[in-house]
Amino acid sequence: MEKAKKQKEKILVCVAWPYANGYLHLGHLAGSLLAPDIFARYHRAIGNNVLMVSGSDEHGTPIAVRAEAEGSSPEEIVEFYRKQTLRDLESLGISFDLFFRTSHPNHKKIVKEIFLDLLKKGYIYKKKTVEAFCPHCSKFLADRFIEGRCPYCESPNARGDQCDQCGKPLDFSELLEPKCKICGVTPSGKETEHYFFKLSGFEDRLRDFILKAKEHMKKNVVLFTLQWLERGLKDRPITRDISWGIEIPEIEESELRLKGAEKKRIYVWFEAVIGYLSASIEWARLKGEPEKWKDFWLNPEAKPYYFLGKDNIPFHSIIFPAILIGYGEGREAFTLPYNIPANEYLQLEGRQFSKSRGHLITVKDFLKIYPVDALRYYLTVMMPENRDASFVLDEFIKSVNSELVGNLGNFIHRALSFSYKHFGEVPSPGALEEIDRKALKDMEEHTKRVFKYIERCEFKKGLKEVFALSQKANVYFDRKAPWSEVKKGKEKAATTLYISLQFVKVLSHLIYPFIPKGAERVWHYLNMPLNESNVDLRCTLAPLDTGTQLKKPSPVFKKLEKKEESLTNGGLRFEELELRIGTVVSVSEHPQAEKLYLLKVNLGKETRQLVAGIKPFYRKEELQKKKIVVLCNLKPRKIRGEVSNGMLLAAEKEKVVSLLSVSPEVEDGTSVKLVESYTGKEISFEGRKKNIDIKDFGKFVIKIGSLKEENGEAVVKLKNEVFSLDSHLYKLPSQKRCVVVLSPVKGVLAAGGELVTTDREEIKEGAHIR
Ligand code: MF3
Ligand code: ZN
Repeated sequence: MEKAKKQKEKILVCVAWPYANGYLHLGHLAGSLLAPDIFARYHRAIGNNVLMVSGSDEHGTPIAVRAEAEGSSPEEIVEFYRKQTLRDLESLGISFDLFFRTSHPNHKKIVKEIFLDLLKKGYIYKKKTVEAFCPHCSKFLADRFIEGRCPYCESPNARGDQCDQCGKPLDFSELLEPKCKICGVTPSGKETEHYFFKLSGFEDRLRDFILKAKEHMKKNVVLFTLQWLERGLKDRPITRDISWGIEIPEIEESELRLKGAEKKRIYVWFEAVIGYLSASIEWARLKGEPEKWKDFWLNPEAKPYYFLGKDNIPFHSIIFPAILIGYGEGREAFTLPYNIPANEYLQLEGRQFSKSRGHLITVKDFLKIYPVDALRYYLTVMMPENRDASFVLDEFIKSVNSELVGNLGNFIHRALSFSYKHFGEVPSPGALEEIDRKALKDMEEHTKRVFKYIERCEFKKGLKEVFALSQKANVYFDRKAPWSEVKKGKEKAATTLYISLQFVKVLSHLIYPFIPKGAERVWHYLNMPLNESNVDLRCTLAPLDTGTQLKKPSPVFKKLEKKEESLTNGGLRFEELELRIGTVVSVSEHPQAEKLYLLKVNLGKETRQLVAGIKPFYRKEELQKKKIVVLCNLKPRKIRGEVSNGMLLAAEKEKVVSLLSVSPEVEDGTSVKLVESYTGKEISFEGRKKNIDIKDFGKFVIKIGSLKEENGEAVVKLKNEVFSLDSHLYKLPSQKRCVVVLSPVKGVLAAGGELVTTDREEIKEGAHIR
C-alpha cells in the first residue's frame, strides 16, 4: 500500500521583538534570534508551511529612556535603530517572513480593536492607583524610569515593571530603594487612574492551557507558569502616564472613559505581544491573500512556537494567552502557544551583557571581523538552552578552528578535492564492503537524530550530532585511505570517494538550518543546483547522481585568527562623536581660575565658548587663529562659573602638551573622520547623539602616532602597530605626528582631505589625547 502522504504542518514561528533602542548584540542572537531561524529553515525544508514573524518593539520607556540619554527624540531613536537592526538581520541570514514594527498604523489599529473588545467584555477596567512620582522631575516614573532592588532575587538592577534577573513582574510599591532614573531622587507615590487587565479572570483557563501544553512545552516554562498561577494572578495596569506609545482608543461609553486619557499610553508589553498577530495579518495582506493568517491563528492544528529569552516568559505564557482567550471569546478561538522554548542568558566573559556599561559585543562589530557561519556555528553549540552560557572570544576561535574548520571543513575539503582531482565527477561505486555499508547506516541514524532534536528545539544537541557524523566521516576516509587505493588504479578508490561524497552531501544538508551559507557553498562544489527556496531536507539521504561533474573546490570554512580589535566599545561608537575643526578667534583669562583660558572658537556656522586647561602650556598669542579639533556634542558644562560648550583635543606626554591641528586650508566646521585601518572606510558623526558624557569620551583610546615611510609608501605607526591607509588619498602633514584611534575601532584621524596632526612636533609618540 502506498504510504499516506504526510499532511503539511502549519508552523508559526514567533520571535521576541527586539527593542529599537540599540544595536543587536550577541545576547539577542543566542537568546532569541538564532534558534527560531534554525527551526524555521528546517521546517520549510521538510515541506511544512512556516510563517516566521517578529518586528521592532518601538514604544514605551525602553525607547523614551534611550532618547533621553542620547538627547534625541523617540522617533529618531526608533528610525535609526530599526535600520541598523534590519541590516544586521540580513547579514545574519535570519529568515523572517515579515519583520514588522509596532509603530505601524496597522499594528496600532489591531491593538486598539482588541483593547476596546476587552474593555467591553469587562476584562479591562479602570481603577485608581498609586504610582511612583518623582518630586524633583515632577513626573510619573513608569517602568524603566524607576530602578531599585528586586524584592525576590535581590538583584540591584530591577526596574519599575520587572526584574530581568529573575523574570518577575513588579509593582512600584514592591521595589526596594526605588530611585528616579533621571535624577536619582527617591520617588513618592501619587494617585492616578489607569486601565487594568483582569488577569484574575483567566486563571482557570490559563491553567487548562498550560496543563494541556505540558506534553510539548519546555519544562521550565511550564513550571514557572504553574508557580505563578498557584500564587494567584494579580490584575495589572496596562496604561502608563507617559507620552510615547499607542494612544488609548476613543471610547463611546462615557462611564468607561479615563480622565486625562489623552496624556496616557498603552503599556508597551500589552501591545507588543499583539504584534505577533498584527504582523501575521500584515504578512497575509502583503501577500495578497488576506485570510491566510487564519491558517496559523484560528486553526487548532497549527503549532505556534514562541522564541524568547527567559525574562520574557510570563508575557508569553500568561499575559498574551489571556489576551487571546479574552479576545477570542464570542468569536473563533485563537490558537494558543504550542511551545515556548525560552533560552537562558548569554553572558560575555562571565558577566551579564550590559548596554549602559558598554559590556557587550554588537553583531555589527563582530561580523566586521569574523564570518557569519562561524558565529552561527558557535552560538548554536553553546546556546544557553538550559543554563546561562558565557561567550569567551578565545574559546570561540578555538572551537571554530577545531570543529567547524578542523573536523567538518577539513573532511569536506579532503573528500571534494580528492574526488575532483582523480575523477572530476561523482564516481560510480563498486561493490560495497561492510565498512561502506556501516557508513551509510551512520548517515541514516545521525540524520534521524538531528531532525528529532531540531523538532524538539534542542538545537545544541542537533548540531553536535552533525559534528559526530563528520567525525565518523573523517575516520572512514582515513581507514579507507583513498590515497593508497588510487595507487593501485583509480577505480579502486571509486567506492570510497562515492561514499565520502555522499557523506559530504548528507553533512551539507544537515548543516543547512544552522549554517545556511556554508551549506550553499558545498552544494556549489557538488554541482547541486540548490538555493534556499528549493532545499529539501527530505532528500538528505537520497544517493548522489553518479557522473555529476564536480566544481573545483576551495575550503568551505577558513581558520580564524584572533584579531586584537576591541569588540566591547565602552558603550559609545566613534560615529557618535561630533568632532569638528574650528579656529580660535579670541583668548581671554578665566576670571576665577589660574590655569584656564576662555576661548571663542569659530565652528563655521557658530561660535562657541570653550573653557580649556592649557594656560600653563600656551601663550595667548600662540593660540590666536589656530586651527583646533573640537568635540562638539559634549554636554555643556559650567567650569568655575563659565560655560564650556565643547572640548578641544590635545595630546599630553611627559609634561609636553600639544593641540591637535590641521593646515589653515581646512574650513571651520569640517567634520573630523576616522579612516579605518585596512578597510579605508571613513567613519564620521551621524548627527544623532546630542549630549555625550565626558566619561564616555574617556573610553576611547586615542594616541599620537608617527608618519613613516615604508617601501615608498607613507604609513602611520605607533610602536609595533601599523595603521594602513591609502596615504596618497590624503594630504600628509608637514611634520610627522598623526592621531590614531586604537579602540573601539582602529584608524587614523583626517579632516577635509588631510591627516590631523599636532601643532608641536616635540610631542612624543604614544601621547594620550584628552
Ligand atoms: N522587546 C522585548 C525585549 O526585548 C520583547 C518583546 S516581545 C513582544 O525584551 F512580543 F512583546 F514583542
Ligand atoms: Zn527624578
